[in-house]
Amino acid sequence: MGHEEVASSPLPQKDNPTLLFNNAGMNQFAKVFLGQEKRPYSRAVTSQKCMRVSGKHNDLTSVGPSPRHHTFFEMLGNFSFGDYFKKDAIQYAWEFLTEVMELDKSRLWVSVYTDDDEAEELWQAHIAPERILRFGKKENFWEMGDVGPCGPCSEIHYYLGDMADMKAEGVNVEDDYLEIWNLVFMQYEKAADGSLTPLPRPSIDTGMGLERITQVKQGFTNNYDTDLFTPAMDVVQELLRHSDEERKANYVGYRVIADHVRAATFVIADGVRPGNDGAEYVLRMVIRRAARFGRDMGFSQPFMAHVAGAYIQHMGEAYPELIAQMEHIKRTITQEEERFARTLDNALVQLERVLEETADKQIPGNVAFDLYATHGLPLEITRDLAEERGFTVDEAGYVVAKAEHALASGSGGVQGVRVGWQHLQPNRPRFNQRRQIASGRG
Ligand code: SER
Repeated sequence: MGHEEVASSPLPQKDNPTLLFNNAGMNQFAKVFLGQEKRPYSRAVTSQKCMRVSGKHNDLTSVGPSPRHHTFFEMLGNFSFGDYFKKDAIQYAWEFLTEVMELDKSRLWVSVYTDDDEAEELWQAHIAPERILRFGKKENFWEMGDVGPCGPCSEIHYYLGDMADMKAEGVNVEDDYLEIWNLVFMQYEKAADGSLTPLPRPSIDTGMGLERITQVKQGFTNNYDTDLFTPAMDVVQELLRHSDEERKANYVGYRVIADHVRAATFVIADGVRPGNDGAEYVLRMVIRRAARFGRDMGFSQPFMAHVAGAYIQHMGEAYPELIAQMEHIKRTITQEEERFARTLDNALVQLERVLEETADKQIPGNVAFDLYATHGLPLEITRDLAEERGFTVDEAGYVVAKAEHALASGSGGVQGVRVGWQHLQPNRPRFNQRRQIASGRG
């Protein structure tokens, strides 16, 4: 009740040098939590554009094999800035999931932080005690990055499998248990030395992936089967003239293309161009990575503008910037595909040579760096291809080679190459449900 509907902030993150992109709904409120900024409201709801491709929250390597991870995703959240705290946050979440979303209560599990007796007790008003589990820092203490607001959290999990097999031991372990919502009890500010200082006023930050709640509502066990992604994947299938069986057999490539083109579409709409540094590198990398998968599935011409077109058509109502910049988005993607196509064949020949010459199954960092700086092959693609062949890449060595090159050239980067060694990690209801969900909680 009484939550201000606040628009998503743009993807590129300007306030925090440790983040390239917004990685959670709370980013735009970080200073409010810290007491450094005042807003005319003390409760808010958002549907925030997020990218998890660098730093603490990085889902890149999961995209493709995983049914539920994305680079770009939309995070729904409600926030309290020193207004309500644990009791109301838990009650609002429960009401929203069980009454507004009408989820099956018998499939829900919740988790609390190791020593959070208060949260456990509050949950007991809603759910049987044996459905409340305790986990440690990794699962139940949320931090935005290496510094900033943080606190213990309580997660809500939905069981997707056969009821006869449901068990407490599966939560946070098995894929059938889908984490759908994270309620963070914002209580501390973490400093660079790791110390925690209590926030001026305890606050609430919640985050629910639109992709995941859509999956549950639409009755799937895979985000990519929802209508958030199928229009784009249908375009890929049409262009490749694949049968349904071929589409299924190539599911990793379909998912990577669907995910990465969506990410590129939104990142470009928010003003980023492909380049060699920071957010620009990430954009270049996702376009090139999708192009490489596309090439493997039979594309010999730029194809991604058509896929971007499906997203612009389906998501343009909620995000008018996509419509306003449609031609620019398509042109930017196509140009990057063309640029990559000019060097890709040669880069793959070079990589083949490297694999033949590498005796100990680990590509040295300076060699991986040269594959990008000289041949345009992003580290993330080198890593994909190396792993397919049972090799690894010395990524720490890559960082050293990059830094040495930057030092030698005095330019901050060989051809400006400065990022790219970090891995990318990630998660939406029907398009017309998005607003309702974002504002319907609390
Ligand atoms: N910040 C928390 C998360 O990203 C809850 O919104 O999971």
